[in-house]
Amino acid sequence: SEGRLNKVPGQHEYDGILYLPTTPRSHLESIKNVRFTSEDLLVATFSKSGTTWCQEIIYLISNGVNVEEAKSRPITERVPFLDVEINWAGITALKSPKLLKTHLRPHFFQTQILDNRVKAVVVMRNPKDVLVSFYHFYKSYHMFGPFPGTWNEFFELAKNKQLIYGDWFDHILAWWAFRSRPNVFFLKYEDLKMHPRANVAKLAQFMNRDLTEDEITKIVEATSFNTMKKNPSVNYLKTEDKRNNFIRKGAIGGWKNYFTVAQNEYFDDRYEIKMKGSGLEFTFES
Ligand code: A3P
Repeated sequence: SEGRLNKVPGQHEYDGILYLPTTPRSHLESIKNVRFTSEDLLVATFSKSGTTWCQEIIYLISNGVNVEEAKSRPITERVPFLDVEINWAGITALKSPKLLKTHLRPHFFQTQILDNRVKAVVVMRNPKDVLVSFYHFYKSYHMFGPFPGTWNEFFELAKNKQLIYGDWFDHILAWWAFRSRPNVFFLKYEDLKMHPRANVAKLAQFMNRDLTEDEITKIVEATSFNTMKKNPSVNYLKTEDKRNNFIRKGAIGGWKNYFTVAQNEYFDDRYEIKMKGSGLEFTFES
């Protein structure tokens, strides 16, 4: 039944959006009161859009491109996930500039974004690949038990806004509304994949850092798909765990092996309606 597929125990709704039990209501409310500094940086994404990849890049930019040091600690400590309540003490203890990951919508940070009190890098990926990646994440995510349904059942949940963090379109358009802010930087997964050097350089510029050509090379190598796949510090699940599917394919266009013709038509129609006039365009194939 849908209930069985939809619910992990303790999953809950806040302001019309589903959250995992690790992000309780009280925590969402405290996040609204966090005080940032103008050098603090959020990697703000919809899940499965290249968050971890971008976290690793900005961490290397911030630590003086010390690849060995980065490898020595998990990314969850270096660029913690703001949304998870148990990270709270660690986050408040971090020195500024804080680097944080979030999947929340911008209204949680609205005043501070408008006052230049925080920076955000918004990584966006074409939503068809996001959905397929999210499906694999649901299938392999065992903290709350793997999703028991099929791709078609998963697609229905997405259609009905019953996935954690809600609807991709609503999320992206909410962030995109801040596109004229100098402290919000938009990066597309596909651009990073096709032009890593140029985009690493742009990220560094946004962080007010100058990188040498050699440093850019080091970052691009350390954050290539193949290198990251083998790097335990950026793989969330233990490497000996067979279900470890976190750094999975890292490709553009894999959705074609999943979307049925009908699903694709539905999605294209929805995309047209929601994204029309936004000026946002995505690359759906390589
Ligand atoms: P796939 O499931 O399509 O492979 P997030 O970190 O936001 O959860 O995103 C995870 C997605 O980013 C996964 O997509 C993962 O493989 C991909 N990814 C992680 N590191 C990457 C890298 N260095 N290059 C390209 N894709 C990467």
